[in-house]
Amino acid sequence: MCGIIGYIGDRQAQSILVSCLQRLEYRGYDSCGIAVSSNGIKAYKDAVRVAALERAAPQLNGRIGIGHTRWATQGEPSRVNAHPHGDCSGKITVVHNGIISNFQLLRRQLTAEGHKFISETDTEVIPHLIEKYYHGNLEEAVAAALCDVEGSYAIAVLAAGESKLVAARKDCPLIIGIGDRENFIASDVPAILDYTNRVIYLEDGDIVVVTADNIKITRDGTEVSRQEDKVLWSVADAQKAGYEHFMLKEIHEQPKVIRDTLIGWVSVAEPAVDLAALRGGVESVLILACGTSYYAALIGKYIIEELLSIPVRVEIASEFNYYGHTLARTLAIVITQSGETADTLKAMKKLKAVGCRVLAITNVIGSSASRIADYTLYTRAGPEVSVAATKSFIAQLMVLYWLVISYSQVEARRLADLMMELRQLPEKVQQVLDNEGKIKEYASYLSEYASVFFIGRGINFPVALEGALKLKEISYIHAEGYAAGELKHGPFALLGKDTPIVAVVARDSTYQAMLSSIREVKARGSPVIVLAEEGDEAVGELADLVIAVPKVGAMFSPVINTVVLQLLAYYTAKEKGRPIDFPRNLAKSVTVE
Ligand code: BG6
Repeated sequence: MCGIIGYIGDRQAQSILVSCLQRLEYRGYDSCGIAVSSNGIKAYKDAVRVAALERAAPQLNGRIGIGHTRWATQGEPSRVNAHPHGDCSGKITVVHNGIISNFQLLRRQLTAEGHKFISETDTEVIPHLIEKYYHGNLEEAVAAALCDVEGSYAIAVLAAGESKLVAARKDCPLIIGIGDRENFIASDVPAILDYTNRVIYLEDGDIVVVTADNIKITRDGTEVSRQEDKVLWSVADAQKAGYEHFMLKEIHEQPKVIRDTLIGWVSVAEPAVDLAALRGGVESVLILACGTSYYAALIGKYIIEELLSIPVRVEIASEFNYYGHTLARTLAIVITQSGETADTLKAMKKLKAVGCRVLAITNVIGSSASRIADYTLYTRAGPEVSVAATKSFIAQLMVLYWLVISYSQVEARRLADLMMELRQLPEKVQQVLDNEGKIKEYASYLSEYASVFFIGRGINFPVALEGALKLKEISYIHAEGYAAGELKHGPFALLGKDTPIVAVVARDSTYQAMLSSIREVKARGSPVIVLAEEGDEAVGELADLVIAVPKVGAMFSPVINTVVLQLLAYYTAKEKGRPIDFPRNLAKSVTVE
């Protein structure tokens, strides 16, 4: 998720592009750049925040320009990988948000035709394709170029000597801002609200030609009209896309995050990691992480042992640093959203020091973890602003599912079923989000209590742990997650009418055992909220409150159940008026031991 901007009008473009980019930094902030056109194109870009670019960039005169703030997905944050990217002649320059999944193929073809590439990005194929098809009409060249491109994109194109901007979108947001003798192209509304609140939301497949006083939208070559809307939000609201908190926005982004993460892996012809090399000689797996990432690691253990029958050890990174030892022929996997958590980095260095191969699963390209690791798989959650991790957790599970399923030698029928289930997850998660109202109701019930227990079994035990962590982190209610079978070995002593239980029930081998656990806690007077598959009458008879979840295979139930528990924690914290995005005493990434 990056932020793109375009300006054309009577005013000097540079300062306008910079201020709009500052409003888009919540979409990505590891590098940025601008390009302005007047007597040729002049650009400035670097691996810095927009404020630093503003200070460092020379004066670039021109009343037409484009800009970009980046969240790296292909190619580390660096000056050469920052946008805009140009063609060989310097005539065409492009900013892009999205993923070009067939870029390696296009790059080889264009290189064979004599085009020279300087960056590691997927984006750079676009200006070269436009150059290839440019015969005096920029709009036609852009349309032809996009016919060769697979994946998702929102692009803005600037060409020397052309007093227009051309832009297009597919599976990424893009809007037009309408001004007085000036117009804007932007990834999102916050960018332009300081200048105008008149916007047009483009649709997938739209190509738009923007001049200072005209906007022409075409689709498949035919001119179309799009409705103009008036935005009444403040900039802050707009950055949250109208959600009250970044956390709720990020929870609602999860269907797209699942698709993006799967697109990033399933469609790429040449996976970034040589699986065979990674697999070679692995007899056991060690997974290390902290916080929410540690619970993703615990779920990873169930998936790997289930599908690969390789023994897996999961360790808390900070603990591993003081006693952990590794076995020979162990593949170490570290999971870290930020890629900067000090405890995890220290553990990685310890593993490397004893010759262990390390695979990192991280959300930030160019992060320290990706530098230390031998192999890196990136989640595609985009920037996660809220301190409590939500979409990054689900994206980590997606990478673990994909990695393990790609490795597994399960028979073709099962493999097809697993892949089909994976592809259905975005829609299933959307069903949970659509049932938000019910969860909100139960949250106000839960907000009355000072202590809550979460229970689960098997692959949903870590889900209970994550549910408890989310509630603790943002509502400040004391919460514990337990393997349901453990309650009778101590915690039972705390049960009673003041300690509600949230039970995560899946239709797998643990089902009957979970029903007996619910009976046991009921017998000790605790109210019980149960997450169970829609239509499950047995649970309905037992529980005080039931949150019905869509049917999914047991292996994928953690994804669905976690989204429910994220919403339960969010609405409970909201009920208590907590500072949800920035809870006390916590940080998004703890870079000290
Ligand atoms: C904490 C965050 O600081 O670090 C948690 O508040 C996160 O949300 C934990 O899960 C681990 O961070 P990371 O970046 O290593 O996954």
